[in-house]
Amino acid sequence: MVEIRFTLNGEPAEARVPAALPAAKLLRESFGLLGTKPGCGEGECGACTVLADNEAVLSCQKTIKEVEGSEITTIEGLAQNGKLHPLQEAFIEHAGFQCGYCTPGFIMSGVSLLDENPSPTRDEVKQAITGNLCRCTGYYSIISA
Ligand code: FES
Ligand code: FES
Repeated sequence: MVEIRFTLNGEPAEARVPAALPAAKLLRESFGLLGTKPGCGEGECGACTVLADNEAVLSCQKTIKEVEGSEITTIEGLAQNGKLHPLQEAFIEHAGFQCGYCTPGFIMSGVSLLDENPSPTRDEVKQAITGNLCRCTGYYSIISA
């Protein structure tokens, strides 16, 4: 077991967990943040995407050691003062989801893109979400959002 300290959705966080626990499980099992979805567990689907120090990362591939001292933001940390993030609003407006399983991952990848490039082209959006898979909505409405 190892002690870990980091910042989670703007608040200090700590836990005592097995050293081999992937960050995705840390977030879900130790902190109850179930918006970070377990998908393939192999870095292929993007369902587990979170921000680490403002960069989109696959939390199933991130080790406890890598999380230590970093600033992690999950889908639960995007809304501020009871207001959804503009990209969350855009997913609603453009019907960018059906079952919603992949949606937190897409939104976290999108937030990271918009942070670097507030006015991306459709091609730049496509490029930014190449690591995120959706099995039911299709990509048109996701890219529009
Ligand atoms: Fe992490 Fe699929 S669960 S990439
Ligand atoms: Fe169902 Fe994407 S909305 S997998």
